[in-house]
Amino acid sequence: MTIQHAPISPKLPVLMHGADYNPDQWLHDPAVLEEDIRLMKLAGCNVMAIGIFSWASLEPSEGEFRFEWLDQVLKRFQDNGIYAWLATPSGARPAWMSARYPEVLRVEANRVRNLHGLRHNHCFTSPVYREKTGVINRKLAERYAHHPAVVGWHISNEFGGECHCELCQDAFRNWLKNKYGTLDALNMAWWTSFWAHTYTDWSQIESPAPHGEFMVHAQNLDWRRFVTDQTIDFCKHEIDAVKWANPDLPATTNMHMIEGLDYRKFAGVLDVISWDAYPTWHDAKDDIKLGAAFAFNHDLYRSLLQKPFLLMESTPSMTNWQAVSKLKQPGMHRLSSLQAIAHGSDSVQYFQWRKSRGSSEKLHGAVVDHVGHEHTRVFRDVAELGGTLADISQVAGSSTPTETAILFDWENRWAVKDSQGPRNSGLHYEETVMDHHRALWQQGIATDVIGSEDDFSSYKLIVAPMLYLCREETGRKLGSFVERGGTLVATYWSGVVDEHDLCHLGGFPGPLRKTLGIWAEEIEGLHDWERNGLSMLPGNALGLSGRYESRELCELIHLESAEALGQYTDSFYAERPALTVNKLGQGKAYYIATRLTDDFLLDFYRTVTEAAGVGRALETALPAGVTAQVRSDGKSDFVFIMNFSGAEAEVALDGRSYSDLESGEPAEANVLLPVNGIRLLKRAAAR
Ligand code: GLA
Ligand code: ZN
Repeated sequence: MTIQHAPISPKLPVLMHGADYNPDQWLHDPAVLEEDIRLMKLAGCNVMAIGIFSWASLEPSEGEFRFEWLDQVLKRFQDNGIYAWLATPSGARPAWMSARYPEVLRVEANRVRNLHGLRHNHCFTSPVYREKTGVINRKLAERYAHHPAVVGWHISNEFGGECHCELCQDAFRNWLKNKYGTLDALNMAWWTSFWAHTYTDWSQIESPAPHGEFMVHAQNLDWRRFVTDQTIDFCKHEIDAVKWANPDLPATTNMHMIEGLDYRKFAGVLDVISWDAYPTWHDAKDDIKLGAAFAFNHDLYRSLLQKPFLLMESTPSMTNWQAVSKLKQPGMHRLSSLQAIAHGSDSVQYFQWRKSRGSSEKLHGAVVDHVGHEHTRVFRDVAELGGTLADISQVAGSSTPTETAILFDWENRWAVKDSQGPRNSGLHYEETVMDHHRALWQQGIATDVIGSEDDFSSYKLIVAPMLYLCREETGRKLGSFVERGGTLVATYWSGVVDEHDLCHLGGFPGPLRKTLGIWAEEIEGLHDWERNGLSMLPGNALGLSGRYESRELCELIHLESAEALGQYTDSFYAERPALTVNKLGQGKAYYIATRLTDDFLLDFYRTVTEAAGVGRALETALPAGVTAQVRSDGKSDFVFIMNFSGAEAEVALDGRSYSDLESGEPAEANVLLPVNGIRLLKRAAAR
């Protein structure tokens, strides 16, 4: 079902364009603010994220508040049609606070308390830190929650990390008491009879430590769950402290591919998802893989709330934290920025507006360079994009129709890496998930990235690579998805453990065994240089033939109700099944028993998606590295054709009637895309 979503802010119901802005670094020179406003308008910027690290300017000493400078910035914004995501300053705190209240300082896993410095260096449990953030947030809300220039709250900055102080240890123990009730239940769930790890008092339990316990897998998993819950609890505390003044002002927090936090759980406390994307273009010399990887991430963040998100940060030129920082080649700024829009973002925002003069980010890419004027390549790229975003503002609020989803759980991600099994030199979970996603991306198939607890019923195809941690409930849900006509693709290393990281008894893939119709008896790890192969069986239902290379992991499976489509080519298990399909109810479940390469995945998904009736953005062949993505408002489809191939490319449109999204002119039948080119088209919505 296609939905036109309400704008993220009714004050600015268009695509947002802007940057992190730190006017507090330039308070000594008031001319800078005036010049910045002139340049913002010139660059077509309509929104800035301000106050992100401003605590020392807002509260220079305890209880002494200074808001005049922020009043002035917001007033100048208002006068000039510029809006603000107003940040809470908790991402870094003033030195006076660390000096007076050492408990706010973070303790690392080695149990050493950090000194003052850096950022994100605080305890999420500390009552003092919570009190201080509560006070400053309430003050900001009191003053600005109804300010006409403020479109929403930017809560803190890139929450992340963990604290192991005594306050956090106690909070962890309470969290465990709440979850398990009794120590007996915890000991059973954690399988602590192993190595005499049985706990006899709650106080004996500690967070995982490099010089203490880190081998109890269920404990590691629970610690990560606790860190997620505690960080969300802190985030919620911050949100409550700003929302009381105006519940209608939306709140977001900028996310950043952080592995340690289950972002899916954050979705519940946020009004809009935002994230910071830093693709390192031209560095690895594989912009296709990178383009697909960022497509995956955009899909992931969009799927958290199933509505438009914000690209809160990206670099207008280069970063300053890569080993070697490449400049964006001509066209790439436009392509990379509009890729976010294509995948459901309603904004393109940067880190940062003006380069800071000193400290660690003084040489990070920014819209305004140290030269201080607009006559730079980067500024021109940004201003041109500003023009495009204004031209295509009808895209704002449109949705991304999908029929396919990839299952990607944080818990599985954590557990799989902790598994200590067939290949400790690398199971490559994320890479594998992205390999599957890329095969769909290459065909212009829109894909949601969902979790086990999401609703599966609207999809035709669900891909669940390496679902190592699989709850009984997830197994049941996937089973009924297939029975009701869905197509499931699963792989080796699935259904091994449950939510306590305890192995499923009675045969892998545990809760998926019936759905997949196989029993996985053993799994072999291969060295990096070793290969096996998949040879397709004559007359197989996929219509594929020949041999594909396989590597890393080979599972030895038995057919139960499934049929073999292909078999291993080598080793003592040559001719045993390596690819199977099981028919169950109205649907089908495929099992890929070994890690296969891109050529297989492309051939496989081409056939499987066609059989499953999954639609593509364009019903036409796309050259390698060229993809297409659709957003729709129900009346019109907005089609983005993107060229990451590094060469010129040509795409024959599929016979439907297209116009140029910016100019409205009818589109040519063959679209020519330059290197790093993107074409924006419009057609009548299909449904
Ligand atoms: C992150 C932070 C920003 C800045 C950028 C630099 O995304 O949120 O404050 O440090 O990285 O790339
Ligand atoms: Zn702590």
